[in-house]
Amino acid sequence: MKETKLFAGKTLAILSGGGDTPAINSSIECVRNRASMLGFKVYGVQRGWKGLLGEGDVVDLTNCAYNGIYGGTALLSSRTNPFPSKKNPEDRSQQILRNIERYKIDVLVTIGGDDTNGAAKKMYEKYGIPVIGFPKTIDNDLRTHSIHHYQGKQYETVLCPGFPSGAMAIKKLTSKLHTTNESHQRIMVLEVMGRDAGWLTGTAIFGGAQMALVPEIEMTKERQDFFFEQVKEKYMRSKKRSLIIAVSEGVRWWNEEKGSLDMVYASSDLDEYGHPRFGGISGVIASDISKKLGIEARGQISGYIPRSGKCYEYDRRLTSTLADKIVDLLLREDYGKMPVMRDIVPYSELEEYHTDAIDMGNVGNFPLPENYYDPNEFYFTDQYIDYLTNIIGSPCRLEFDYEFPIVIPQN
Ligand code: F6P
Repeated sequence: MKETKLFAGKTLAILSGGGDTPAINSSIECVRNRASMLGFKVYGVQRGWKGLLGEGDVVDLTNCAYNGIYGGTALLSSRTNPFPSKKNPEDRSQQILRNIERYKIDVLVTIGGDDTNGAAKKMYEKYGIPVIGFPKTIDNDLRTHSIHHYQGKQYETVLCPGFPSGAMAIKKLTSKLHTTNESHQRIMVLEVMGRDAGWLTGTAIFGGAQMALVPEIEMTKERQDFFFEQVKEKYMRSKKRSLIIAVSEGVRWWNEEKGSLDMVYASSDLDEYGHPRFGGISGVIASDISKKLGIEARGQISGYIPRSGKCYEYDRRLTSTLADKIVDLLLREDYGKMPVMRDIVPYSELEEYHTDAIDMGNVGNFPLPENYYDPNEFYFTDQYIDYLTNIIGSPCRLEFDYEFPIVIPQN
């Protein structure tokens, strides 16, 4: 007897929108594999929502070889918003509806952050399009309603695919920066992406950054003065007279000349979801440190490094586990939802048992909670270290401890 698969004759399409991460191809591959096992034909929509505008730009993924370890997204990405925005007042949702019908798409899986998944949720609520979300962002600021079990208590936290790979990249980069910094006995200000949240900046302390500034805490004049004092003290106390300070790209920093709190933008041009592009705060802070303390300081922008390269093992298993939860949603035809990790667990415990499904889209941003960052120390707490150890292992840095005997010239 010929076995008919449950969803034979149906089509599931996948798209990815927003900033890429090293875990998107893995998410696409894992969802594709499970959906095709259930009998779906699997399509890929190219360039996010853009691929469903006009005549559409859709490819067939069902039987193609796919490399989920290679970072980025083979389906390409854009920050296209189907709904009216300041940048583009046109409502293009009807074009999307038309293409969903033309390509006979029965279910749409949207891999994205709050913007992409928010638009998908709107398509579901307004037009009844069956959508399932899949979280992604290196910023790790999407409210996933996850739980961090710490010292016998439960705390709300977040875990988004893409963050583990980004975190590992920042840990490794910071660990390496010590060698050049120590050689010149400098202060290095390392700028880290993450928009309005300091999650990714915190990962630099796992590579040995001794201080950190996050966007959640404004650097007012008073706090800035206190910060300079702390920088001087920590630098003078450091064994090799060198200090790495990780700073979030979105830090609000007191501008002495203007007398205002400023953010530094690479471009003030807004995308279709209303976001400007940050970049350059590390140079400003380094120059202010040099001026104030007379210690040589340099800015270093880590930029797209955390978004680049291979998918890290934790992300690979995380995306696979969340894709297992998607099977559950598909079988129950439970749309407008997004799989998430309910519990923060180490690699070996990443199993569907620890997942949950939450309402997708407009879930809101979740900044770094107070119990993860100590503004008096300009450093992350033991609780954050515990959270991150689950994901990227213990802190480490390149180290070479030396104490050479001093030579006194003999007469
Ligand atoms: O949201 C992800 C992110 O990498 C942010 O951390 C960063 O501010 C932004 O995207 C950069 O966007 P783009 O790829 O448009 O330069």
